[in-house]
Amino acid sequence: MQVAEISLEGQRADDGSTLFPLCLQCESGGGSVEDACRWMTEHRDELDRKLREHGAVLFRGFGLSTAQDFDAAIRAFGYPSFTYEDSLSNAVRTNLTDLVFTANEAPPDVTIRLHHEMAQTPIYPSRLFFFCEQAPETGGETPLCRSDVLFDRMRRELPQFAADCEQKGLLYSHVMPGADDPESGMGRSWQSTWNATTREEAEARMRELQYSWEWLDDDCLRVTTPRLPAVRRLPDGRVTFFNQLIAAFSGWKDARNDPSRSITFGDGSPLDRQAMDRVIDMAEELAFDVPWQSGDMALVDNYVAMHGRRTFTGTRRVLASLVAS
Ligand code: FE2
Repeated sequence: MQVAEISLEGQRADDGSTLFPLCLQCESGGGSVEDACRWMTEHRDELDRKLREHGAVLFRGFGLSTAQDFDAAIRAFGYPSFTYEDSLSNAVRTNLTDLVFTANEAPPDVTIRLHHEMAQTPIYPSRLFFFCEQAPETGGETPLCRSDVLFDRMRRELPQFAADCEQKGLLYSHVMPGADDPESGMGRSWQSTWNATTREEAEARMRELQYSWEWLDDDCLRVTTPRLPAVRRLPDGRVTFFNQLIAAFSGWKDARNDPSRSITFGDGSPLDRQAMDRVIDMAEELAFDVPWQSGDMALVDNYVAMHGRRTFTGTRRVLASLVAS
């Protein structure tokens, strides 16, 4: 198999040298899915090193076209899988294979803000795979943002805010419904989230994970996380803005949830709106929008890069899979 690094318009190199994302194209064409998977297995250590360095790798032209092909490609990497049942994700999800599920099914006109997957909970994946089964007519890119570069800028431009994030950590709060609500991007029921059938079982799980809670009308449950870090130190010394601040601050909204109540610093003090607006702008300036073509696969280091979703028209099928720590 002939695989070459290609450049894409708008590809970034904000630290001066490291391309973001790294883009690999299979040049030989016409190969089978088995060939592509064999190549991925043979190169998996090197690919994982590159993933850590670059933050995200885009694979183009590897002949993948279905959810089953995507599943096979994921298995080629041999990573431990992260199951939805074990996760405390807020989203309602549909699995297509054991490993593959449909990425957020929020309506096309809804923007999904940049975030690190499940960083608003104590249990999160280390890496994410995305696969474009069907590219939309327009839009629908997956913005990616290097959050080590972002935090570096925050330290220079907003030193007090960056220090508060680092020292105080964050508390996230949200209301779960008593039954799955597929209309909401955060509609997973408390029963499903806590893998519980009774309130007592849910409370035992929340106690174990050090959440606090309050039962509301209509069998809804308001939960607040224990203090979670807002930044993460990587083994190589980089510090990333590892959280769901941007998404929670600007977007956690549905019939039960008001974004102004969803997040505070770890000591309960409010976040500075001006600083947050600036952080959101900086993240947008640093974002690279993956211009999906059908058959593209992306591997994202969840500790290094944030992801989101642009609005789109037409039919968009982007599938996802998560890797355990
Ligand atoms: Fe996500």
